[in-house]
Amino acid sequence: MDRNKIIVFDTTLRDGEQSPGCSMNTEEKIKVALQLEKLGVDVIEAGFAAASPGDFDAVSRIAQTVTNSSICSLSRAIENDIKQAGLAVGYAPKHRIHTFIATSPIHMKYKLKMSEDEVIKRAVHAVEYARTFVDDVEFSLEDAGRSEIPFMKEVMDAVIAAGASTINLPDTVGYRLPTELGAMVKELSDFAGDRAIISVHNHNDLGLATANTLAAVMNGARQIEVTINGLGERAGNSALEEAVMAIKTRKDAFGDLYTTINTPEIYATSRLVATITGVEPQQNKSIVGKNAFAHESGIHQDGVLKHQETYEIMKPEDVGVYKESTLILGKHSGRAAFRDKITQLGFDKVTDEELNAAFERFKLLADKKKDVTDDDVRMLITDEALNSIKTFELVGLQISDCSNGVPTAAVSIKHKDEVMTDANIGNGTMDAIFKAIDRLTGYNGELKDYKVTSVTEGKDALAKVTTRVVFDDNSPSFVGHGLSIDTMLATAKAYLGALNSYLSQKERLAKKTEHQV
Ligand code: KIV
Ligand code: ZN
Repeated sequence: MDRNKIIVFDTTLRDGEQSPGCSMNTEEKIKVALQLEKLGVDVIEAGFAAASPGDFDAVSRIAQTVTNSSICSLSRAIENDIKQAGLAVGYAPKHRIHTFIATSPIHMKYKLKMSEDEVIKRAVHAVEYARTFVDDVEFSLEDAGRSEIPFMKEVMDAVIAAGASTINLPDTVGYRLPTELGAMVKELSDFAGDRAIISVHNHNDLGLATANTLAAVMNGARQIEVTINGLGERAGNSALEEAVMAIKTRKDAFGDLYTTINTPEIYATSRLVATITGVEPQQNKSIVGKNAFAHESGIHQDGVLKHQETYEIMKPEDVGVYKESTLILGKHSGRAAFRDKITQLGFDKVTDEELNAAFERFKLLADKKKDVTDDDVRMLITDEALNSIKTFELVGLQISDCSNGVPTAAVSIKHKDEVMTDANIGNGTMDAIFKAIDRLTGYNGELKDYKVTSVTEGKDALAKVTTRVVFDDNSPSFVGHGLSIDTMLATAKAYLGALNSYLSQKERLAKKTEHQV
């Protein structure tokens, strides 16, 4: 084993997805997983297979799709959880089960109501059972940040003997300071020696997650558990982009330590996760925020022009941020030139169908918008990929919204080659649109979240709408995406996108159950 390599374990699809408003459907998770593979992540925690049939489906499909990264599923220290995890990840060429139990006095007493001996017994059994499915087992001492060192050593001895090769020490509640976490990792990594890899998983409740991750790396941790854009429970997890770029940029401090992350893919990965979840990183977020490489003040601009390193410690290109260029293609440009452009933008796996659809939309856009930018093209391609399921397709929308009248929407939708049209009134234009769609499709969605952002600057900018909708009480919310120069059109598309996503998940799960019967 290379003691200088830091294993990057990404948990965007598990801890990240667990955070409110960040749930993704299976197709979206597969897209993120493929991008994480391109980014060079070593281990992808694809989900918590036992949580629901939908989660099992997502983990197993990712396991069938990704080949270079190891695919992992979380499981409590419970046989059925471990079995579901083992079955789901079993499809992947490289796979891992991650099982855990809490070891802090507060969790053992109030949550688990278990003694130390019982916790050790359960942990050992979990690891032994997991080893009957896979060779690679990671064990987490949940709430390690508030656990006692002597007890953690006992647990570590027992689970390593049972077959765990990675020991994760989560600061579950984001309580530790970097000096304290560093000291804990030093003691426990010296204790483990060559018997196991020490991993850390830091939450950001005090804004210290990445500082703690780096302190851990300096003290012997050789795996870091991170998420894209720092998504995760509550205040989130340590952000992959921050930890990876700190190790790369501060070679003077980290010496020979390195990750094998393909850093120019960082920005594309961040954009994909933000687009899919609808959760944008704050503008001043390090590495991936809109302002991370923007120099507003004249003094800074002047300095950077004279010598880049005066105000920039990293090259934007190193994380995949390139200067925005205006697309040179015009409305008369051909398909081949358009394909060249999207390949240049990093979309090398676009299907012919997606390319053709995006090309048609590009032509329409070029007719209406003065400058079509790289960001516009990126969004057109992403939007096509995110809306590949077209059970219900919007073909027309007419609205009238008067300050003194009744907001009305007439909607035409294609379903199984038939175009249906209906009109409805509402408390506002959006309400009228949603009601018309509900009546046409026969589904009654409950809108949980709605966001609109503009892709570029300017009055003629594309509007990107994200909706989160619940269609039945027994299933989670589904996210829909809509993109149009007209915000209401984008809204209607996003609402239908969420419905399509819900129906496709329902159909796939029903088919699975049918096969199992
Ligand atoms: O924060 C935490 O403790 C976790 C574990 C399940 C690893 O997410
Ligand atoms: Zn966590």
